[in-house]
Amino acid sequence: MSKFLNLAALTFAVGLTGTTAMAEPTGLGRPATPDEVAAWDIDVRPDGLGLPEGSGSVADGEPIFAERCASCHGDFGEAVDRWPVLAGGIDTLTSARPVKTIGSYWPYLSTVWDYVHRAMPFGDAQSLTADETYSITAYLLYLNDLVDDDFELSRENFTEVAMPNAEGFYPDDRTETAVWKNRAPCMTDCKPEVKITARAQVVDVTPDDPTSKHSMAAPATDEAAKEEATQVAAAPAVDPALVKAGEKVFKKCKACHAVGDKAKHKIGPHLNGIFGRAAGTAEGFKKYSKDMQKAGADGLVWDEETLATFLAKPKSMIKRTKMAFAGLKKEDDLTAVIAYLKAMTE
Ligand code: HEC
Ligand code: HEC
Repeated sequence: MSKFLNLAALTFAVGLTGTTAMAEPTGLGRPATPDEVAAWDIDVRPDGLGLPEGSGSVADGEPIFAERCASCHGDFGEAVDRWPVLAGGIDTLTSARPVKTIGSYWPYLSTVWDYVHRAMPFGDAQSLTADETYSITAYLLYLNDLVDDDFELSRENFTEVAMPNAEGFYPDDRTETAVWKNRAPCMTDCKPEVKITARAQVVDVTPDDPTSKHSMAAPATDEAAKEEATQVAAAPAVDPALVKAGEKVFKKCKACHAVGDKAKHKIGPHLNGIFGRAAGTAEGFKKYSKDMQKAGADGLVWDEETLATFLAKPKSMIKRTKMAFAGLKKEDDLTAVIAYLKAMTE
């Protein structure tokens, strides 16, 4: 936010007695005091404007991070459970499952400083001093392998730090580039016929139980709930074209897996009943790896999401899996084969 907007917001909040070019005076409130303005005016810009005096080193940052941040983000920024990951992921942005971190994704260091200072630790925002924020920012750079362990960050050297993905963001130039070049973007009746090629239900972003706590809009009444439930039931559960595409992808699995009527175990277990089953527990299959059995015992259950992760790169999920398969690189193939498995096992 620019200074101008901050001031405008504050003016709005406390009312205004003075004259201004922006609006007629209302006769209410009083001018904001310099202290009030300062408390609001904490944004830091990519060019360093807004940074307070101060400094902090990687060594200063480590214990602060351990005490105030690691419980959620992990000692090395690797994250605990599903809290955000803060380090690593370099070179994954163009992969099927990009890992977006400060190091791999964020274009400006000022965003790190500003965000941490403004919003973290979660639940105790704005409790960090400027020096503490410099220290933590230095430590986060260190966790991302961007500085050495003797690095100290200050207002003076702040803009010298180059973030790896700084060039990855650029202004929207589509009017000049191929997509819209010499063509006015179409705004009405652009496609004669609209065909539905996939349904959100298949990729399971839309919960089919409208009363589920994950449901986007809880129906207001029982009547509405009933109506929505019938609609959901009436909608085809899977998209035939997608299932067909998935059948093709499944050719890559067929040497080792069978699915459907009378499927038997082959090199790999048959995949009937796979959805909702703990990993490594197909009855009668004796050749599971230790790691797969352990993953199941530790709570890994197969659903769309876990299957997508596993099938994208089996070894990165189950380290010493016996499934000798490199993984499906294309997101479309993943979605399709999972839809196929779903259709075959339901
Ligand atoms: C209680 C858990 C918790 C603690 C402790 C915590 N955070 Fe966070 N952090 C979060 C959550 C939740 C988000 C995501 C917030 C959102 O998206 O609105 C987040 C987001 C972030 C992000 C942005 C990540 C991204 O890629 O979007 C950074 C950077 C960050 N935290 C740094 C810190 C630092 C530094 C500390 C310690 C001073 C800290 N956090 C302490 C829970 C925590
Ligand atoms: C070269 C043989 C081979 C190929 C190809 C293969 N798999 Fe596997 N798969 C296995 C083996 C062996 C296991 C057991 C792995 C273990 O125990 O670590 C397995 C395990 C699995 C599991 C976990 C089963 C369970 O009960 O926990 C799923 C799901 C799976 N494969 C799906 C697929 C899909 C889908 C494909 C194709 C995209 C595929 N596999 C390709 C051999 C293969």
